[in-house]
Amino acid sequence: MEIRGTTRVCGLIGNPVGHSLSPLIHNTLADLLNMDMVYTTFQVESGCVETAVQGAYALNILGLNVTVPHKQAVMGALADIDELAKAIGAVNTLVRTPQGYKGYNTDILGLDRQMRDAGIDIKEKNCVILGAGGAARAIAFLCADKGADSVFVLNRTVQKAEDIADSANTYFGRNVVKALAIDCFADLPVQDYVVIQATSVGLYPNVQDVIIEDGTFYERAAAGIDIVYNPAETEFMRRMRFAGKPAFNGMKMLMYQAIAAFELYNGISVPKEAAQKVYELLERNFQNT
Ligand code: ATR
Repeated sequence: MEIRGTTRVCGLIGNPVGHSLSPLIHNTLADLLNMDMVYTTFQVESGCVETAVQGAYALNILGLNVTVPHKQAVMGALADIDELAKAIGAVNTLVRTPQGYKGYNTDILGLDRQMRDAGIDIKEKNCVILGAGGAARAIAFLCADKGADSVFVLNRTVQKAEDIADSANTYFGRNVVKALAIDCFADLPVQDYVVIQATSVGLYPNVQDVIIEDGTFYERAAAGIDIVYNPAETEFMRRMRFAGKPAFNGMKMLMYQAIAAFELYNGISVPKEAAQKVYELLERNFQNT
């Protein structure tokens, strides 16, 4: 990669940012597609987000990704916010417009593309989401937006699941998201559901951990996606496969959220072959760790 006077800068704001795979993904895409763009990370302290965004705009920075802990706070610094991202209450991508940055949530675009790749169609199907943190909230909105029949949010602290259900049902104007205590999974009134494991349970080094141990939960499912991608096969995925069901880790969600951001920054669409190359690179990256 050659950095010239014309090279546009994109980057990630968050804290911490040192572990991020986004530079690897974006710089590989820029290389593969001959884009005159470079991507780096910016560690931004809490309380400095608005200043950082204003400074980035003044510096003609083309686009930014936003990660923990700034996905909510950044919303106050934007000229415009995509409608679904606003309803979710979290933005992870800022795209430059003549008025200022516009905020999007490409985490959910990433999961949507991953599901399409895997042949999982949730329209008029039932979804089960494990967890009720920020990721679970965004995923519940995605499932409802894609026309799922019912979306069950299962959480240890049921109040948090109820909060997600209340805001999603108000936004979509139908009683689509339902809350349930995780211990009550046997009371799910549906089966053949698509499960999305949306907590950090099972993440390296706690690779033996899983939120639900009972095999019947997995036998009643149709397919499962874990947002965790390290290890490549989580305990959740292992149990899903043991029950004979397809299971996927969160690597493609990670990759596609970056690809969706790259497309929004540059106004292009990334060809399948380039996505495949990035995916292979990410897989190799984890084989080496
Ligand atoms: P996010 O990054 O998505 O915002 P988070 O806010 O840290 O993640 O949320 C983590 C989720 O994992 C929460 O739903 C949490 O359950 P509680 O709301 O009851 O705390 C869930 N979680 C974390 N560890 C868990 C465990 N050991 N068993 C069950 N649920 C767990």
